[in-house]
Formats: sequence, C-alpha cells, structure tokens
Amino acid sequence: MLGIPEMDADHAHLFALADQLHAAVAQGAPNDSIRACLAALIDHVRAHSAHEEELMVRCRYPGLEEHKAEHQLLAEKAIQFQRDLLTGHPAARADMFRFLRDWLALHMANCDRCLAVYLKNELAGAKPSAV
Ligand SMILES: [Fe+2]
Ligand SMILES: [Fe+2]
Repeated sequence: MLGIPEMDADHAHLFALADQLHAAVAQGAPNDSIRACLAALIDHVRAHSAHEEELMVRCRYPGLEEHKAEHQLLAEKAIQFQRDLLTGHPAARADMFRFLRDWLALHMANCDRCLAVYLKNELAGAKPSAV
C-alpha cells in the first residue's frame, strides 16, 4: 500500500486481474480465456497508467518522462504477449505471467512508490525530499 487511495485501489484491481490470469494459465484454460484475461488486464493497465500520468502532470512530477517510459514498455510488452498467444508461441503463457507479475511488483515498489512519496509531500505542502 502506497498511501494514495486512488493508486492503491487501482493496484489492488491490477493484482486481482493478474491473479485471474494466473489461475487461467495454471488451469490450462483455452487460449480464448487467457486472451480475455490478458485483455482485461491490459485495459486496466492503460486506464491506470493514464490516470497516474495525469496525476504526474498535474503535480509537475519531475520523474514524469521516466515513469511514462516504463508504462509504455509494459504496454508494448503486453501487446507482444497478445500476439504470441494468437500465434500459439509455446513459451508465451509462462513468460507472460512471469513478466507481468515481476513488472507490476517492481514498478509499484520503485516508480509508483517514488510518485506516492512525492504526492504525499505535495499534499502536505512540504518540499519533496526524495524522488
Ligand atoms: Fe506507474
Ligand atoms: Fe501504478
């Protein structure tokens, strides 16, 4: 939990969607179901990324460009996974889940945490200490 309610709610939803994707992969669900889970996750990632980027612009966050680039990397990777699933690439399912899980955990622990610290300082009217 980062202490910014709107970000925390979005992140909880992202993890719930990632859990659904994991369950579908673990149960050997058909590609159609995996694709539907991935599409739901991608939709939420896009909406969440846009929301964070809007917050960053609004508060003149100095790390905006780097953070946006990370979001963009995830979007590109997710589209590649969708393509791999369509073509039946054999390693696609396991690779996809591992990448998404690790990316979400790392991004939230690093980039999103820095943003949350900055936002909390801004809200408190203090000068940001570490970004
Ligand atoms: Fe982010
Ligand atoms: Fe986030």
